[in-house]
Amino acid sequence: MAFDIDMIKKVYSQMAERVDKAREIVGKPLTLSEKILYSHLWDGKPSEAFERGKDYVEFSPDRIACQDATAQMALLQFMQAGKDKVAVPTTVHCDHLIQAKQGAAKDLQSANQTSHEVFDFLESVSNKYGIGFWKPGAGIIHQVVLENYAFPGGMMIGTDSHTVNAGGLGMVAIGVGGADAVDVMAGMPWELKFPKLIGVKLTGELNGWTASKDVILKVAGILTVKGGTGAIVEYFGPGAKNLSCTGKGTICNMGAEIGATTSTFGYDDSMERFLRATDREEIADEANKIREYLTGDDEVYANPEQYFDEVIEINLSELRPHLNGPFTPDLATPVGQLGEKAQKNDWPIKVDWGLIGSCTNSSYEDLTRAASIAQQAIDKKLKPKSDFGINPGSEQIRFTAERDGLLNVFEDLGATIFTNACGPCIGQWDRSDRKGEEKNTIVHSFNRNFSKRADGNPNTHAFVGSPEMVAAIAISGRLDFDPMNDTLVNEEGQEVKLDEPRGIELPPEGFEVEENGYVEPMKDGSGVEVKVAKDSERLQLLTPFEPIKDSEMQGMKLLIKAYGKCTTDHISMAGPWLRYRGHLDNISNNCLIGAVNAYNKKTNFVKNQLDGEYGGVPDVQREYKANGIKTIVVGDHNYGEGSSREHAAMEPRHLGVAAVLVKSFARIHETNLKKQGMLGLTFANEADYDLIQEDDTFNFVDIADFATNKPLTIEVVHKDGSKDTIKANHTYNDAQIRWYREGSALNLIKKQNA
Ligand code: F3S
Repeated sequence: MAFDIDMIKKVYSQMAERVDKAREIVGKPLTLSEKILYSHLWDGKPSEAFERGKDYVEFSPDRIACQDATAQMALLQFMQAGKDKVAVPTTVHCDHLIQAKQGAAKDLQSANQTSHEVFDFLESVSNKYGIGFWKPGAGIIHQVVLENYAFPGGMMIGTDSHTVNAGGLGMVAIGVGGADAVDVMAGMPWELKFPKLIGVKLTGELNGWTASKDVILKVAGILTVKGGTGAIVEYFGPGAKNLSCTGKGTICNMGAEIGATTSTFGYDDSMERFLRATDREEIADEANKIREYLTGDDEVYANPEQYFDEVIEINLSELRPHLNGPFTPDLATPVGQLGEKAQKNDWPIKVDWGLIGSCTNSSYEDLTRAASIAQQAIDKKLKPKSDFGINPGSEQIRFTAERDGLLNVFEDLGATIFTNACGPCIGQWDRSDRKGEEKNTIVHSFNRNFSKRADGNPNTHAFVGSPEMVAAIAISGRLDFDPMNDTLVNEEGQEVKLDEPRGIELPPEGFEVEENGYVEPMKDGSGVEVKVAKDSERLQLLTPFEPIKDSEMQGMKLLIKAYGKCTTDHISMAGPWLRYRGHLDNISNNCLIGAVNAYNKKTNFVKNQLDGEYGGVPDVQREYKANGIKTIVVGDHNYGEGSSREHAAMEPRHLGVAAVLVKSFARIHETNLKKQGMLGLTFANEADYDLIQEDDTFNFVDIADFATNKPLTIEVVHKDGSKDTIKANHTYNDAQIRWYREGSALNLIKKQNA
């Protein structure tokens, strides 16, 4: 059985008592987010009220989900924790390592050849430690989780930032680094700063061309990529009830793009319908028994300003379809206004590709709405001007969509149906029309559109929209096309207009699948041998990090002062580097190669202070390491935004970077740095960023007194001998300071298990 009904019953049996107690302690009505948080405290029944945005709290998540790229390092770490089995139900999903090129059958075969070593490793570790394993081609982690494991009122963590997708089924589901997942797998609590709460009140009803995707594209435009940082976004109101469960999933999914800890919706009829349609009648029956505990209190939703830290209201009836981009998902433009903007910014109007799918938008409803547009192109004799690619979200969706004739519609339009996997969304795309230096535009229904994300090409301008809008734009081949007002000329020279999309929420004949790709682990896996070849270039068993000595924090050199946006993609690029996710030394050769050096505005070109020569970041860093010199990385705002991958912390740590000093951090990355036993610091005075010079040396003068709520003092020695003394803030609590002192969180777990 895929889901664990006994575990869910246990959660529900405790929920009423814990929520009632929490309401009493907090002394006011509760939001759904608070109900889930307070009913998942590590210590059980709530005994104190927590301050939002301030208190660190230990939680007890119900589930863990890992994808193949991040699972490698997470499981390599878990293997070091000295346990027989995972303490919490866990699944591994193989979806990131499959390149999209010729179509599902060939691409899957080729992935199974090129990555069999990794898939075999993940399958054997899963078997050994009681982890459910989803084979390559089974689907994208978040769709598979939504269809099989998510449940209203539950708490889940996952080693992927879009774990938040499960909020569509009323969970608090949070993306974490592998190191956090390892804690929970090992039976330890999971710590999180009690989040702030943003309420989004939805009124009205979606209509015409507007889709659930447009809700989050609009919210991203309002809140920007940083606006949700440290907060849970809770959607409510009559409009929320009018959205499908998978539509809610789409909205929650892209909450990652505004930096939100997670997003969620209260349990309602759409969720019940989805649970029943996905063979989880039992969960729906149990959820119905405690319905009022699986949504926010009435008073909260009646007067949201009193209970949320921030409230946004969106009338779905008035919402217009959007396309967000390029290069950032919060650059929101209503469809119809893009022509002028594109002209002004010199973005190519011609669209080369329309890509539909990803964990964000690959539900049955999404495919039916997009197919209704594709069908019109066929009926109205329109020849698509762009290429089409489709990634179904799971084998269950693919099988059902094929049965119901949806995939045929796309194929008739010349689309390539790629594997049920991430593909172009994670840069796993061998694009048939490589563009090189030429600026080009693509539209997709994914979530991220950072530079180089889809095809590794900085000249590709990617815009994010709903699947149906992507279909319409791809048919027209123009970024400035507005299907609500514009006409197209068909092959017979007639002017035709596309009608509004039509979708079907759930398959009328039910979901169907022949082989869903799930492998149940053995009851007793103690005899399973996990093999890692000594000469493997893709997998490497880990050696514990040595604690950083206080003496090493003197005379440190600047490795790079990163200029502007520095996401985890800049720190540890995806694409071809996914290959080395299980081999720390090899993947470290991509360390910070995408970050822009503030002194010359070039990537992967930094000064080596030992000889004055310029070189690639990893090469220069390896020289410092060889000479026993620790280094520091300096960065701008929201450093480390994007993915939850802990490689972005482990690589600098492995190579000898001891501290990262920035204007502000993205939450997951900051935690990841802490877990790996290094310093993640912020400038007490942001303007001090400008004081840092290329040849600087750093002395952490009071590192011996590293303590909670006490800024650190750094002496910055410039080339001419002059000095600046600056203060660096940190958010380390006592336990996290122990991680630093032990060399990593994992070192501490091992010590405690010994
Ligand atoms: Fe995969 Fe893209 Fe989602 S990489 S998990 S489809 S965000």
